[in-house]
Parts: sequence; structure tokens; C-alpha cells
Amino acid sequence: MRIDIITVVPALLSSPFEHSIMKRARERGLLDVNVINLREYTNYARSQVDDYPFGGGAGMVLMAEPLVNAIELLQKERPYDEVIYLTPDGKTFDQKTANTLSLMKNIILVCGHYKGIDQRVRDRWITREISIGDYVLSGGELAAAVITDAIGRLIPGVLNDESSALTDSFQDNLLAPPVYTRPEIFRDMKVPEILMSGNHQLIENWRYEESLRLTKEKRPDLLTDE
Ligand code: 6GU
Repeated sequence: MRIDIITVVPALLSSPFEHSIMKRARERGLLDVNVINLREYTNYARSQVDDYPFGGGAGMVLMAEPLVNAIELLQKERPYDEVIYLTPDGKTFDQKTANTLSLMKNIILVCGHYKGIDQRVRDRWITREISIGDYVLSGGELAAAVITDAIGRLIPGVLNDESSALTDSFQDNLLAPPVYTRPEIFRDMKVPEILMSGNHQLIENWRYEESLRLTKEKRPDLLTDE
């Protein structure tokens, strides 16, 4: 899968994909992340990419031309499944959306900045709008990192234990059960007996019951959704 991220602050995206699972995904050739500096696509003087909003008001707006130059140049190279604008007024990102996007071949993520991007780009070039939650970030870059990570780890072959994404929190509308590792006794705290029993059926049942209990306690809304 290829993800192209268009941004005015490429430095914000230099490190998130260079570690851990994202690094492995790229090394295995399963995920190709390209960070595109919007300033390289403007024809305006002094690499200008933003301007004052018509009608007045605070903040700057990313101009249509550099954005469309960048999008259309990419689209000439390969077909894109989606051109996604990251914005607080988009549809809230969740595991279901991550699953859907992880099945795609090529996507573009457009990071907004300042007061956003010219509406005409949204009207004609953007195919989907995503928010990562009800709070405002300074730009879409951190959201792009979050979304790329959530998608990337779902690509088949990225996780070593293929089944491990299946047991994540949210994958079945349940939170993940508690986990423990050595030592068996830490201070005065013992690992639940059942996990030491070697009985896989009992352990599986325990984990399911714990998932259910934690979901009821912490996120009862998940049990009534869909
Ligand atoms: Cl995608 N962008 C910005 N700027 N703020 C956000 C967001 C995105 N999602 C939540 N807040």
C-alpha cells in the first residue's frame, strides 16, 4: 500500500514511520509512505502556499492551486482510491474506517493548516474527510501519523503474529483483556492463576469474560453500537 501525505510541515512527519512496526512495514515493502512538501508545488513567489480569507477573518487559508498541482501530479502517476482531507469537521476515525482504508492500494492524505484549505479543493478533489476526534490540532500532520499507523499495522504481513491485530481492542467492539508477563509475583501482586494453568480453553474463556467486563465498565457505549 502507498500513502502520499501532502503537508506544509514535512518535518512533523519525518520520524513517526521510522520505528517499530511502521519501520518493519516499510522494510518489508508492504507500506510506502511519501511525505510531499506542498511548497514545492506552488507557482507563487517566495514559495507562498496560503493567503488571507476572502470576506476577512482571522487566520490563513491554503490556496487551491498548489494543492491541486500536487494532487493532480500524483494522480498522473497512479490511480488513487481516495483523496482524504484531514480536518476536525470530518467523520470521526475509528477501527472500522482503519480496516476499510487498509484494503486500499493508493491513498492521498491532505493535511490542512491554519484555517483550512480553499473550499473548492474539498468540493472537487477530496473524496473523504476524516477527523481523529473532537478537539482541534494545529494541523493535520499528527492526524496523518495516527491514521497511517492505524492503517499500516492492519496490512497483511506487517504484524509478525498474523492473528494479533484480530485480538486488538475495538476489532470486535470489545476492549482487549489484561496482559501479564514475568515475574509471576511482583511485590505482593500475583498473576491470575488461570493464565498459569496451561489450559488454553479456560484461558480463552477468561480473556473473553475480562474483555466483556472491562468494556461494560469503561466503554458500555461499544456494546450498544451496531
Ligand atoms: Cl484531522 N485536523 C486538525 N487540524 N485537527 C483535528 C483533526 C484533524 N482531528 C481532530 N482534530
